[in-house]
Amino acid sequence: PYPVYAELRRNPVVRDESGVHLVTTYWEIRDLLQDPRISSDARNLAPGANPLLAEEDETALPPSFIRLDPPEHDRLRRLAMRPFGPPHSPRRIHDMHGELTAIVTDLLDGLAGDERFDVVDDFAYPLPVAVICQLLGVPQEDEPRFRVLVDGVVAGLNPAQPVAERRAAQRSRFELGQYLAGLVEEHRSHPGDDMLSAWVTDEGPEGRMSLAELITTAVLLLIAGHETTVNLITNGVLTLLRNPDQLQRLREDPSLAPVLVEELLRYEPPVQLLPQRTTLTDLEVAGTVIPKGAPVWLLLASGNRDPQRFAEPDRFDPSREDNQHLGFGFGVHACFGAPLARLETQVALTELARRLPDPRLPEDPPPYRPSPVLRGPRHLEITCTA
Ligand code: HEM
Repeated sequence: PYPVYAELRRNPVVRDESGVHLVTTYWEIRDLLQDPRISSDARNLAPGANPLLAEEDETALPPSFIRLDPPEHDRLRRLAMRPFGPPHSPRRIHDMHGELTAIVTDLLDGLAGDERFDVVDDFAYPLPVAVICQLLGVPQEDEPRFRVLVDGVVAGLNPAQPVAERRAAQRSRFELGQYLAGLVEEHRSHPGDDMLSAWVTDEGPEGRMSLAELITTAVLLLIAGHETTVNLITNGVLTLLRNPDQLQRLREDPSLAPVLVEELLRYEPPVQLLPQRTTLTDLEVAGTVIPKGAPVWLLLASGNRDPQRFAEPDRFDPSREDNQHLGFGFGVHACFGAPLARLETQVALTELARRLPDPRLPEDPPPYRPSPVLRGPRHLEITCTA
């Protein structure tokens, strides 16, 4: 998609025939992500203005905090973060290094002896699923059950979906909510050391989340906690195999993993596009007036390749300084799970580089997931000496 983005960047704001305003350049995207005159709340869209907005029906769950504006957003984000917050965070995430290494080692031990495996199914997917299940308090053996529903919700993120499929996505989200509601009840009676238990039992100065808030937050975290990280890990493996000098460097010096992962988030960000925002007033962006109520889509991955911000943007260069990419968004909605996603990917890539002496790619490019929002291979076959 990157040559297409370069073409689109000739105009910082591109308007299509349906009224969507696509923002393509780094500074404009970053400014909008901090501008309170632009809303993430779907209820602010002019009726009929957005092809994304699913019709209300009895299966519609209320929006989670990613689709709310301050102050509602801030209250829920703070409540959701409490189990991560002091005294746990950032220590709690930092402390997970050993646990993550153990999960990664297990996965790689399971592959020892295989001369061919799929990075997605055998490695990049099971890792973040195991981690988010453990953190939230969702039984990992339920994965086959929630996977179907998560896939249904994620299919609905594609803004090109016809109405019938958006309805199906809404239905999946509702059923995922019902599944998690059952777990909430179990955690209320038998609390453990996990986020669902903390949310139902802890009472902070701001009180607790309501049951509906708890369910939408759990749905959000379960999905956001693995659907993006799987792509970052897979994009990372692919990028390293295409840049063998970087793979060799990481092997020799694992302390390079953090800068490598930052550059990956700039160069191949799993979230390419944020398609659900709207203007609360007429808003001028780089000389174009976006009218009140218009849908605004922010093309993060294009901002990350903007030569006005990054020198030689199409070069994968982990030694880049001042790498403030947009891979985790920016502003009030900046990614909640960024420290975790970073650490998971750092550990995954470092261990893979260390354990596989000569990984090769039989098929390049691999098949991709068909989504303008999430970028990552659907499968990534690797061959190596067993
Ligand atoms: C928000 C990317 C991993 C939870 C976001 C946003 C981006 C993003 C771009 C901004 C959305 C917006 O502005 O509308 C990513 C990427 C990840 C990742 C690329 C992995 C590589 C995670 C993980 C979790 C998580 C592991 C949970 C543990 C969230 C939540 C929000 C969010 C809850 C909403 C924050 C808010 O609205 O305040 N993420 N994410 N993400 N992310 Fe992540």
